[in-house]
Order: sequence, then structure tokens, then C-alpha cells
Amino acid sequence: MKALLDSLAQAIATAADLPVDDVRDQLAEPKKREMGDIAFPCFDLAKRTETPPPAAAQTLKSNLAEIPGVQSIDVAGGFLNFKLDRALVAAGVLTPHRNPDPKSTGPVIVEYSSPNIAKPFHVGHLRATLVGHAIAETLAGAGYPVVRINHLGDWGTQFGFVYAGCEIWGKPENPSVDDLVEVYRQATSLRKAQDEGKVAPEDANKPDVNTMAREYFKRLEAGDPEARAFWQWCLDVSMVYFLRAYEELGVRFDHYSGESFYEDRLPAVERTLKESGILTEDQGALGVDLGEELGFARIFAEDGRSLYLTRDLAAAMYREEAFAPSRILYIVGSQQILHFKQLKAILERLNHPVAPKITHVPFGFVPGMSTREGGVISLKSFLEEAKDRAAAAYSTVKREDNDTSETEVANAVAIGAAFFYFLNHTNAKDFQFRWDEALNFQGDTGPYIQYAVARINSVEEKARAEGILPSTSPQHLTDDASWEIIRRISEFDTLLEAFSEDLEPVKICSWQLELARAFMKGYQELRVVGADPEVAAARLGLFIHVREALIRGMNLVGVPVLDRM
Ligand code: ARG
Repeated sequence: MKALLDSLAQAIATAADLPVDDVRDQLAEPKKREMGDIAFPCFDLAKRTETPPPAAAQTLKSNLAEIPGVQSIDVAGGFLNFKLDRALVAAGVLTPHRNPDPKSTGPVIVEYSSPNIAKPFHVGHLRATLVGHAIAETLAGAGYPVVRINHLGDWGTQFGFVYAGCEIWGKPENPSVDDLVEVYRQATSLRKAQDEGKVAPEDANKPDVNTMAREYFKRLEAGDPEARAFWQWCLDVSMVYFLRAYEELGVRFDHYSGESFYEDRLPAVERTLKESGILTEDQGALGVDLGEELGFARIFAEDGRSLYLTRDLAAAMYREEAFAPSRILYIVGSQQILHFKQLKAILERLNHPVAPKITHVPFGFVPGMSTREGGVISLKSFLEEAKDRAAAAYSTVKREDNDTSETEVANAVAIGAAFFYFLNHTNAKDFQFRWDEALNFQGDTGPYIQYAVARINSVEEKARAEGILPSTSPQHLTDDASWEIIRRISEFDTLLEAFSEDLEPVKICSWQLELARAFMKGYQELRVVGADPEVAAARLGLFIHVREALIRGMNLVGVPVLDRM
């Protein structure tokens, strides 16, 4: 199909003397199916040649050379409508799918999830996890070598607050990650009260939290063994939790190299910066003055502590050395746009080769999902709620003849619903998360896609029971319903090819929905059992291609496949 559209665009471009890319972008679907398979609007052309659009269309038609794969051309108003050789397109789609050739570039580093240890988990971290997973999988699917990195927030003063909290109220025994976060919360609210001079009477004799936290972090940075052991304890508690959640989500990383990983590289960063002469002082802190728009970027605090930005500088430099990447994509919420602009700008001032490779892929907010203030969620309760709700939703649509374990279905539906709902919005968009929408089996949802795959399985099973075997017979697939399906399948490779530019998983989601809808509609009309044997075999062959295409898409956007539902 892509080749056909390319040669169609080329023919029009030549006949009308237009840039071929403009023509390609304007090729669209006709308003009504019976008008044709592809339409070209002639309004721009009409303007340029100062003729009425129908006349421009007519002239273009008579100037067009014969185009292989195009059966007929009609003028309708200002449009040229083309009828394609559908069997030819079908034949192209019905071949075994070939993965794109591996791209011979340095790896694309995709950095995502990156939650903080000993600090609250925000819904933004969840979005980063799901979007990052889809971006990494899709780039890998498009043939790019991909390195997946989790830049854990495992270094910083937050450990100081947890430490101070444990000193004041005692260290929790066998804590969960939520217990650690609770200690962090308690300690930071006491600190706030102390800062504002509004300490409750029972806390009047408590030590100064801020001082304790800072001193602890200084000891940690100085390599003090006791401080180090406490840090490790926090890390261990948290990692057990995150690894379990990632496993449930089906998300994986090649490297868990968090902020602490760069600790021993910070002196080198400091040296590089000092030697470059771009470092200046501002209110006791060292940093780079990036001018009006980006401001003064603090790199070393007044007391010499390293900062978030310092560790990002070290990480970027390290990645350049260790991976020689072609790009580094940071999948991080839009609150950090300034941070990444500063990071890139500093590396540019250093003339560092990694600078042009840095791309921040920001995303919007998901309000209304958190039970506590500030978007804080518990990943564990999110996943539990997902499963409970999925089980309830599934029980309303479960079919009698299905013996798949309900828990298995509920788990897969829960994960599929969550992934799809998060990904079915453009990255920049803010959206409300609603379980009832995410779990609607008829809606624009993951479960709808899962359901389409399960339907195809049952169609196949019934057909095989009748002795029908799939065939590749494009000549039996030229009707409108089959065409709707075929043209969707044929779009996938183009979509994948374009992905590395826009990095928008929503495009994969929309494509899957269109394909699933075309199938669900088609399968009412395209009887398999009971049709003429050759037609039945051809349709079964088509449905099996639909299933493969849907599964390819599901694998990219984290939606688990269920054989039966
Ligand atoms: N841990 C950070 C946070 O929660 C996100 C890290 C993003 N990645 C980076 N390289 N800065 O805000």
C-alpha cells in the first residue's frame, strides 16, 4: 500500500508540478466509501492555476499518466477520487510480516520511570513508566537498538529526612515502601512546622529536622559507613517493591543506574566545569548563568553538596562514554522542562558531544487520581484496585463457554486497561483517569482490543472445527468490509517508520482501535462458517492477519494478549 501511495503521489506531483511530499500529505479517504479508495483535493492546485477546483481536477485527471495499481479515476467536485486494485493491496498485506531492518545507529537511550527512593511516588511517575515503556518498545520494534535506563532518584537530602524521622520516632520494623514514605512525610511536615515556627507543643523538644537531614546527607556523601548502611536499607526496601510492580506491569530495564551511580564521577564534572570557566557564583552556590530565559542553574549548593542537575550532568557525560548513543530520550513530566533545557544548555556551553543528543519528551498532568495531596499514589494499591475493578467489569461480559481463569483475565484486563488509557492521549495532554472508561469493553480501550483478539481466536476455532483452513486469496477480499481491514493493516509499517520523529504512542493506540473496529464491524458481514469454501478460507486468512497485526501493536503499548475472554 505504501508503495502504491508513493507512486500515486509521484504521478500527481509530476502531472500537477507540485512537491511530492505535499501531495502525499494530502492524499486522504474519500468522504463516502463508494466514491473511491483514495481522494486528492485539488483546491490548492485550483488557487495556483486560477481555475475553479472541478476544472483543475479535470485537467489533472487528463494529464495523469497510467498508474499501476489504480483502476479508475473520477472527478467529484474539487476532488479526484481513485479506485485502487484492492486485490493487489490485499496481496501485499497478506504476506508474512517482516520486521523492519535493524537501524545501524548508536543505541537510543530511553530513560523512564525513574521514581524516587524514600520519597512519594506520583502519578507522573506512573505515566512516565507507561509512556516510556511504549516508546522504548516501539523504537525497538522499528529496528532501533534501544537501551532502557531507570534513573532512580536514589541520592539526595530525602534520605536525610527519612533518617531524621527514624531517629526521632524510631526505625519501623520490616517496613514497606509506604512506611518509608510515611516517615519521610512526617519528618518533612515537622521541618515545615519548625521553619514556620508553628511546632505543636508535643513536638517542642524535637531536634531540628533540617539540620539532622543535611548533616546526614553530608556524611552519606563523605562515605560514612553508618550513613551508607541506612541508605542501602532504604534502597533495598524500595527496590523489592518497585521490581514487583514492574514485573506485574511487564516493564523492564537494562540498567538501574540511579543518581547514586554517578557519585564518584561528580569530582570530574566539577573539574570539567571549573576548567571551562563557565562556572560562576550566586549567593554562595556555584552554577552557570544561562541568561534571561533559563536563569542561573545551580550545580553545587552553598555547602558544596551536589544537586539533581549535577548528577544529570554526570549521567549525560557518562552515557556518551559508555554507550555512544545516537539519542537520549528523557521521558519526564512537563514540570521539568526548564531542568532539561538547562542541562542541555550547559552541555552546549561545554561543547560536549552529548548535548545535541538530548531530547526531553515531556508529558502532561493526570489530576484527580490521587487519594492524597500532590498527586501521590501507591503503585501497589493502584494495581490492586485495577484488578478488583477489572474482575467486576469482566464478570458482566464473560461468556458461558469460556473456561479461562477469571483471575488471569482480570489481571491482564487490568494492566491492558491502564496502559491503554494512559497511552491513548497525546503526550502533552492533561487528562483525568477514569476506571469506568478505561475498563469499558466497548470503548476506546485496551480491553476492547483484547476482546477483538479473543473473538478472532474463537472464529478460528469454529472454522477449523468445520474443516476450514486459512488461505491467502486476495481476489476474494475486494469487498468494502475487507478493504477497511486491509488498508488499516497496511498502514502499520508507515506508522512505525514515523514514530521516531513524533514519539507519540497515541498513534499506535488509534491505529489499533481503527483496526479492531474495522474487524468487529467486518466480522458481522464477513461470514466464515457457511460461506463458499474458498471465500471462507480467504476470510479466515485475513482475520488471522488482523490478529497478528493487533498483537504486534499490543506488544508495543503494554497491553497483554488473552487467548480467550
Ligand atoms: N526522579 C526524578 C523525579 O522524580 C525524575 C528523574 C528524571 N530523569 C532525569 N534524568 N532527571 O522527579
